[in-house]
Amino acid sequence: MSDDAATGIENLSQETRTFSPPTEFVQNAVARPAIYEEAERDHLAFWRSRASLLSWETPFTETLDWSNPPFARWFADGTLNVAYNCVDRHVESGHGEQVALLAEYEDGSDATFTYADVKDEISKMANVLADLGVKTGDRVAIYMPMIPEAVFAMLACARIGAPHSVVFGGFSAEALRSRIEDAEARVVITADGQNRRGKQLPLKPAVDDALAGGGKSVEKVLVVRRTGGDVEWTEGRDVWWHEARESASAEHAPVAVEAEHPLFILYTSGTTGKPKGIIHTTGGYLTQAAYTHRNVFDLKPSSDVFWCTADVGWVTGHTYVVYGPMANRSTQVIYEGTPDFPHQGRWWEIIEKHKVSLFYSSPTAIRSAMKWGEDIPAKYDLSSLRLLGSVGEAINPEAWMWYRRVIGGDRCPIVDTWWQTETGSIMISPLPGITDTKPGSAQVALPGISADVVNDAGKSVANGEGGYLVLDQPWPGMLRGIWGDPERFKETYWSRFEGLYFAGDGAKRDDDGDIWLLGRVDDVMNVSGHRLSTMEIESALVSHDWVAEAAVVGANDETTGQSPVAFVILRGGNDEELAEAGGDEKISELLRAHVGKEIGPIAKPKKVLLVTELPKTRSGKIMRRLLRDVAENRQVGDTQTLADASVMDLIQEGLSGKS
Ligand code: PRX
Repeated sequence: MSDDAATGIENLSQETRTFSPPTEFVQNAVARPAIYEEAERDHLAFWRSRASLLSWETPFTETLDWSNPPFARWFADGTLNVAYNCVDRHVESGHGEQVALLAEYEDGSDATFTYADVKDEISKMANVLADLGVKTGDRVAIYMPMIPEAVFAMLACARIGAPHSVVFGGFSAEALRSRIEDAEARVVITADGQNRRGKQLPLKPAVDDALAGGGKSVEKVLVVRRTGGDVEWTEGRDVWWHEARESASAEHAPVAVEAEHPLFILYTSGTTGKPKGIIHTTGGYLTQAAYTHRNVFDLKPSSDVFWCTADVGWVTGHTYVVYGPMANRSTQVIYEGTPDFPHQGRWWEIIEKHKVSLFYSSPTAIRSAMKWGEDIPAKYDLSSLRLLGSVGEAINPEAWMWYRRVIGGDRCPIVDTWWQTETGSIMISPLPGITDTKPGSAQVALPGISADVVNDAGKSVANGEGGYLVLDQPWPGMLRGIWGDPERFKETYWSRFEGLYFAGDGAKRDDDGDIWLLGRVDDVMNVSGHRLSTMEIESALVSHDWVAEAAVVGANDETTGQSPVAFVILRGGNDEELAEAGGDEKISELLRAHVGKEIGPIAKPKKVLLVTELPKTRSGKIMRRLLRDVAENRQVGDTQTLADASVMDLIQEGLSGKS
């Protein structure tokens, strides 16, 4: 276990509060206690029955093929189309006039799309993509702001059976290029720009840059007009969506694909410098997305208004903005902007305006709202809310209690949901009409999911003990591999403990057997609920001419959970340039900006500290634990394994000399 995890164990033994679900909630809940027994009785029969939440073009006969672990095949001989399941079937069953998307724009304007509207839009876009040469199996990169067209783009791809790779709109041209190249995308769907805090930020130029520097597989770029104004145009390659849409037919036959056909690739950071393309397939993924969304959020499709604040660039936006909610025929809010623009009550204003009943967000956002003060949400009528969710990192009990009291009016159950890009859907979470919730704990594996906490030897720990979180049974939404690298899939997730999927998280079981997540035990940090790899930021830093060596750690941060802090050794021989830069602070600033350019603003280190040495073991491994002590202003821990024990003194002297 890392030091962080051990500290976590200390903190949580003090938490003894529990909250039972309100009686009315229990009486009307989607998930009833018998669901645990059903899953316990027969794991496969349970999932077979959940698959009936979907409409299958060809029914499957085999539930699970686990003959070649860790490569699972779920419902493999069945066929279906995801867009049909998320849209067309709702129109066919007479719900075409139900609102699917309540689009709220940054400037306060809005637009409404019914399921019938969405069907038309995605059919048109699928026809346009087909005209641009996209066929079943081709990859399409999507680089978009949080506007309905992002959802249409994903569903249009799903309609054709063309796996999409959504790249977060805050990522750089360089990050986009490497993802386009890895997946060999044929088409990119983007927008001219995006609205950010009253400014219009260009988006298309990043696509142009990405394609100028590589991305040779891309033949066409489909551009949605959002901000207006001039854009560079490459004739023959670039196509305006609004122009192509005009002549596109709203009739498009969804392509039924095999259940194991890839639905999307989503890149996520791991312990190496290169992001991994996580592959999710069709039937199993959608089954679990629909099941978890319906049960964890207690969705009543005809009366609820759901709002998940995640961007479609992350897995939460895939599963709980697009696929889960739409497979379940939800009415949901999709919001273009940030929580604090033009004022810090923006989210609460949206909840009041659209009468949101189910709200799913992140601990970072909740902590920011706490900081801004509870008088802000108090100005809005939040009485429509009946359930709150949290995801992305462990929610500290203080933030949980605030969320419950200030946002949830002490009446809404909170579901703290643990899962990962790799797991596809929620894995560990209370069920809101069943579980007595505990502030800060994700608590129990969902029915149909089997999780455990094990020690170094891979043996289950007793209640009251900590260890590593593992998943010991295949699940339908599990990743099917890493794009182009099956070996890395085995090595990354299945080699630490024989036969077990190791999630990278430390965890503890409390005296009741409930699970508490304790943070990552590998070199992955969690910034505002987003995963960043220390190695990836280090690679970005050393790609700068001035940098000889870099070490990055995730330091605790009151608001974002963790934030990257970099220790950098400068290369000799650049004295003139460095002098011109104008001092250490300026150099640090330039290096921070460089990381922003290489990866995206989210990865910018909070601090770049210039040092002359880095602490290393005799075998040359950087001891990040010691650097974390420095970054968090703690007494430096045990330095016995350092090759040169005086290094830490040198680092600290150097830093204190500068401040
Ligand atoms: O460390 C865990 C943390 O986020 C990681 C997964 O990150 P990502 O793939 O980006 O997906 C985030 C959204 C699903 C996990 O390994 N994490 C996520 N949810 C929780 C959490 N840690 C504690 N409690 C959670 N509820």
